[in-house]
Amino acid sequence: MKDHSIKLGILHLLAQGGFHSGEQLGEQFGVSRAAISKHVKGIQQWGVDIFSVQGKGYQLARPMQLLNQALLSKQLTTPVQLIPIIDSTNQYLLERIDSLESGAVCIAEYQAKGRGRRGREWVSPFGANLYLSMFWRLDAGMAAAMGLSLVVGVAIVEALEALGLNGVKLKWPNDLYYQDRKLAGILVEMSGQAGAAANIVIGMGMNLAMAEDTQGITQPWASLTEVAQLQPFDRNQLAVTMIQTLHRALSDYEVYGMQGFVERWNRLDNYIGRPIKLIMGPREISGIAKGINEQGAVLLETERGIESFIGGEISLRAARL
Ligand code: ATP
Ligand code: BTN
Repeated sequence: MKDHSIKLGILHLLAQGGFHSGEQLGEQFGVSRAAISKHVKGIQQWGVDIFSVQGKGYQLARPMQLLNQALLSKQLTTPVQLIPIIDSTNQYLLERIDSLESGAVCIAEYQAKGRGRRGREWVSPFGANLYLSMFWRLDAGMAAAMGLSLVVGVAIVEALEALGLNGVKLKWPNDLYYQDRKLAGILVEMSGQAGAAANIVIGMGMNLAMAEDTQGITQPWASLTEVAQLQPFDRNQLAVTMIQTLHRALSDYEVYGMQGFVERWNRLDNYIGRPIKLIMGPREISGIAKGINEQGAVLLETERGIESFIGGEISLRAARL
């Protein structure tokens, strides 16, 4: 793996605030000013906005609170690995399934190949958001995994509400929305055989303070800073709360499954009572969203009555009737 220690060292200093001259940074890391300038360009390619002023040096355009391995480990009972620069936290755990215990977590500052459903890209700039994944061995097997992603979404929104962060909604099956814009996505991936226990990796990407001019996202998006308005939140603490929430949701799911779950989902459903369309390959069906049923299927009211739809290939979109 590439050694990113100088870039990360520079970021730790810049995150303290103020200007840092190329000369001072060069001395600190035992490299030339030209080498520092090259490293800064590399950091900018991770999506960090750094500007430089002649005679003063480099400064972050926005304050940044870095994740801290010691702080995370101290507060969590489950093993957590902070790998600042990674391809994808989901991929990292999937490649190590045989050596992991249920509840193991990987968290990153930047993903070079963050992914969403069906191979879509999850844009993952450095230090701005949360990118984390948890491994879970699910005795109920692969068929239970669909319900799992719904349950996790509800648990995360409820945890945000408990922190006083209100107004976040759910889009079936796996997105968190704020004011009709995507705030977070959940990706459940697995390996295992039908009938046997499933090895599940459940990943969450949540935008915390992403720069307005972030490139590469093809639909409206939101950041948690908007939800929080002026209420400050601590990035490490939020990561801890999200990991604990995931862990509890997965343990509860093993015991209770989807029991009593429909009402919890429907309260938070972003589209309930609104016109939507379901896209299934070449097929599109429009109607009014009616929440979900006990199996976790999305309900749609059409001229034929209320119909249910379930499966990983379905995409839900807002529609005008
Ligand atoms: P579907 O209902 O099919 O899942 P989706 O459009 O939400 O639809 P996903 O695969 O769930 O698609 O998510 C990936 C999409 O999310 C990408 O196509 C991109 O437009 C968007 N996206 C990528 N990165 C981010 C991000 N950091 N924040 C918000 N949205 C993002
Ligand atoms: C989606 O909306 O399609 C799901 C997006 C999931 C993104 C997270 S970020 C952490 C984990 N690692 C990945 O590569 N993807 C998930």
